[in-house]
Amino acid sequence: MTVRTDTRWDAAFWHQQIVALPRARFLPDLIWPHDMSTRSARAVDRRSDPDGWQAATRADVPVVTQWDDGRHTGTEPGTTPTSSASMPSVVATMLEAADLAPGQRVLEVGTGTGWTAGLMTRRLGDAAVTTMEVDPDVAAAAKNALGGTGLFPRMVVGDGLAGFPDGAPYDRLISTMGIRDIPAAWLEQVRPGGLIVTPWGTQYSNRDALAVLTVNDKTTATGLLLQQLEFMKARSQRHVHPAFAPDLTPVTDTTVEVDPSLFDRWHPFVFIAGLLLNDTTHAVQQHDDGGRTLWLYALDGTAWTAALLRPEATTATIRQVGQRRLWDELTNAHTWWCQGGEPGFGRLGITVTSTGWTAWIDTPDHPMSKS
Ligand SMILES: C[S@@+](CC[C@H](N)C(=O)[O-])C[C@H]1O[C@@H](n2cnc3c(N)ncnc32)[C@H](O)[C@@H]1O
Repeated sequence: MTVRTDTRWDAAFWHQQIVALPRARFLPDLIWPHDMSTRSARAVDRRSDPDGWQAATRADVPVVTQWDDGRHTGTEPGTTPTSSASMPSVVATMLEAADLAPGQRVLEVGTGTGWTAGLMTRRLGDAAVTTMEVDPDVAAAAKNALGGTGLFPRMVVGDGLAGFPDGAPYDRLISTMGIRDIPAAWLEQVRPGGLIVTPWGTQYSNRDALAVLTVNDKTTATGLLLQQLEFMKARSQRHVHPAFAPDLTPVTDTTVEVDPSLFDRWHPFVFIAGLLLNDTTHAVQQHDDGGRTLWLYALDGTAWTAALLRPEATTATIRQVGQRRLWDELTNAHTWWCQGGEPGFGRLGITVTSTGWTAWIDTPDHPMSKS
């Protein structure tokens, strides 16, 4: 058991640290704060709008600092945001969840601007923190910003999915990028009883949950999914778009009564569906007339489904194509979830091994699906 020599480093503590080490010290002149109401980003440049820039750095929103792995230029948002300073309240939540204490050694994966590494380094010391970033330009800017605040954690440019064995074993591994497959290297490099704190989810959507996993031994870890998040994904684990053979059979067309919440792209069930439907991804297409099409795709390209819900309608037309009846799988999963009292974050958990994951409800001996 860890004996604390300090008061607990909870979210309120980390909010104080955030005031003491403002995010502004880690941000470039040109940033794209995320507008939570429109779910879009807009450019703010310190050189032309210093007050707007300062306000954006203090706002409780994620701030994009790079698009399209650095290939994007100009002020218009690019296609995919690929580096950022995370939302301050989420940073505080993740640092609280990591249950950090003096004397611990931490590996952070996804340095980004260096701000989260800086917050941890101020409390734990330079020698206790290692941070990894895959993008050399992003890493160089972070190193510069950290050095400018007198902080010198160990900085490693490389693929954080491999971890950094030279510094192992770690007491904590904190990932600030979304993960689809927890790497075996992370299980090996965190000591038994140590924690992995990471946004985690499935290929069903871009949604993540905050996973707080206790490492049991070098091959397994288990823990709760605490709340919904959405993080930029690890470079090699971004959303996939399966390719389909044009002549898949059989084809089934039906018209059925539907629950419109299945067509709501922000509904909590979207994340749950990813736990229950194996190897499936989805998209919701919004039509100009207010109608929506829910697309479901088998990741191996052997099946797809399109469900069209017209405005104000309570029935949808469903086309199911290929070897799996994906609409039937989705509605069965939805019925199961509703009848089970809609278990959500805080009750759901996962157990990961070096080869996959199992989701569970309340305790690991109540599995709900298998990868
Ligand atoms: C959301 S940002 C990190 C935010 C950061 N912790 C901060 O405080 O500013 C995610 C970062 O993960 C990096 N990244 C993506 N894939 C990676 C990988 N495989 N290994 C290491 N870093 C990776 C991205 O380049 C990006 O900078």
